[in-house]
Amino acid sequence: MSMLEGSPWLIAHKSMLAVNKPFKVSLYCNDYVLWKDASGNINALQNACPHMGAMLSEGWCQQKEDKTSVVVCPFHALEFDSEGCTVLPGSKKKTLPQLEPLQLIIQGDFIWTYGGKSAKQTIPNILNEIAAKYKFIGCGADTSVKTDLISMLLNMHDYNHQNGTHRALFQIQEVNFEKFIDNGHHSHAYYHMPTKAANLVEKIKNPGLLLMPKVLKAHLENYFPSLIIFHGEVDMGKVAQIYVFIPESITHTRTYVMLFGLSKNPLFKAFEQMSLDLAKIVVEQDSDILGKIYPNIPQKIKLNNEVGMDWVRRNFDNYPLVVEPNLSKS
Ligand code: FES
Ligand SMILES: [Fe+2]
Repeated sequence: MSMLEGSPWLIAHKSMLAVNKPFKVSLYCNDYVLWKDASGNINALQNACPHMGAMLSEGWCQQKEDKTSVVVCPFHALEFDSEGCTVLPGSKKKTLPQLEPLQLIIQGDFIWTYGGKSAKQTIPNILNEIAAKYKFIGCGADTSVKTDLISMLLNMHDYNHQNGTHRALFQIQEVNFEKFIDNGHHSHAYYHMPTKAANLVEKIKNPGLLLMPKVLKAHLENYFPSLIIFHGEVDMGKVAQIYVFIPESITHTRTYVMLFGLSKNPLFKAFEQMSLDLAKIVVEQDSDILGKIYPNIPQKIKLNNEVGMDWVRRNFDNYPLVVEPNLSKS
């Protein structure tokens, strides 16, 4: 099963890394340890210690005089610098690299990588544009889902599953699809969803619901394969909620959410927090249904508005080429 080698993957936002605290990421069946030093530099090495295989991500970081730091193995405390070199006990000399660094491409706070494969696609500029226009609010819902990449992408581009998977959460009455704009690996989907009005008790419990519109207007901007941006707008401001995907292995796909906002009113804070909380529940519910699907069942029934999934399948099957048909429709 393909993991779309050659695509860039956004393995973390810098805010997800505490200074001098190892952070484990997986990509293409390999594990890596990431750590941020006191100057904000990001380091990434293979995670298996070359002595006896302990997970470096379970260790700690040691800061040096120049503010750089090394990662320390939790088993016998060998220290590895950003190049993967260590100094053996009793020796004063640095070894040759014992671990391969993971090549990163850092754009502002965004940490991208091709996972050591040759690039078949450029990194989209959209996140830099969003970061320039909006305020960063936070990241959340970081989850390793037991599903393959294609199943994850199909689910996330499925405009019909709100009524099933997310039924209780949004109380969406129906999904009215408006338009799909297909630009190859980039696309837009526009639809709106009338929601059930929250009652007073629900509003008191969750004041963010006061800002929930009667009709949820969705504009999804998609960057195949790694990003979906949900552009949301209410009277008090705008949010860009970004869903990120990373193929950890054949059987596991990671997702997390980054939230950016543009406030026009102090009350918008409640909406921002609600958006992050909702994202967490959304991901839990998606993760749950993805674990309850039989694999390789031929699809005998096709619903309206599966254009997002058609777009995923076309791009996935022909990656990195973009082939006909163009799926734009209004
Ligand atoms: S296993 Fe890492 S120092 Fe021994
Ligand atoms: Fe979902």
